[in-house]
Amino acid sequence: MTIHFIGAGPGAADLITLRGRDLIAACPVCLYAGSLVPPALLSHCPPGARIVNTAPLSLDQIIAEMQAAHAAGQDVARLHSGDLSVWSAMGEQLRRLRALDIPVQVVPGVPSFAAAAAALEAELTLPGLAQSVVLTRTPGRASTMPAGESLTAFAATGATLAIHLSIHALDQVVADLTPHYGPDCPVAVVWRASWPDQRVIRSILSGIAAAAQGIDRTALILVGPALGAEGFDDSRLYAADYDRRYRPLGQEPRFPE
Ligand SMILES: C[S@@+](CC[C@H](N)C(=O)[O-])C[C@H]1O[C@@H](n2cnc3c(N)ncnc32)[C@H](O)[C@@H]1O
Repeated sequence: MTIHFIGAGPGAADLITLRGRDLIAACPVCLYAGSLVPPALLSHCPPGARIVNTAPLSLDQIIAEMQAAHAAGQDVARLHSGDLSVWSAMGEQLRRLRALDIPVQVVPGVPSFAAAAAALEAELTLPGLAQSVVLTRTPGRASTMPAGESLTAFAATGATLAIHLSIHALDQVVADLTPHYGPDCPVAVVWRASWPDQRVIRSILSGIAAAAQGIDRTALILVGPALGAEGFDDSRLYAADYDRRYRPLGQEPRFPE
């Protein structure tokens, strides 16, 4: 008997791994974080499955559900939105389950930043412009930020920023970032990436607050020179004169077959 933590993806019902889908179909119990997990995913549950929305439950109540399934010898599909490695609250559940000696498996999912980048048809790491993506957030009612992880500290790197859980603080985000990126830096807000009613708003730092007025909750703010840029270098990887293991060049290639 295992608790399968499954990344349920950003919203579209078909943006889940085959492994995740098949596990949902095989588990007689499904616990899902109802605030973001799309209900369509629950259609993969087997007939008669116990399906519980954990949004209104406390951690103790969620663990009690898992313990009950464990005692009955039933596998559990535990669904969280996007991928489980960021802002899923999986860590605290795993800690409890390890203490209880209940076996777990973690199945990755499509994170929302990747779905947002896909909606923008954008590569977030463009040669010469940005080679790092920072997945971050601003402080919330339930979460403070560790010292050193301020938006201004990340902005000083010039990397592409994918700012989660912060659309309500867009004015502050703009104020923090403008001194580093400049008012003309490209910004996008993607609301409900991959959902049928997805919205994409492109602007620059000085214009995004007005352009994204009325957008709330499930939205990502992406900022950085790589967004929407056309004036970047080609990567060396595919350059005709680049000697590489998979395309060795010349009489004495550095990487002979
Ligand atoms: C609790 S976090 C969950 C993150 C999730 N584990 C992931 O991998 O993306 C919720 C935040 O993720 C972002 N988010 C989640 N799904 C989204 C989507 N479909 N479109 C845009 N942003 C999304 C929003 O910033 C939202 O406030």
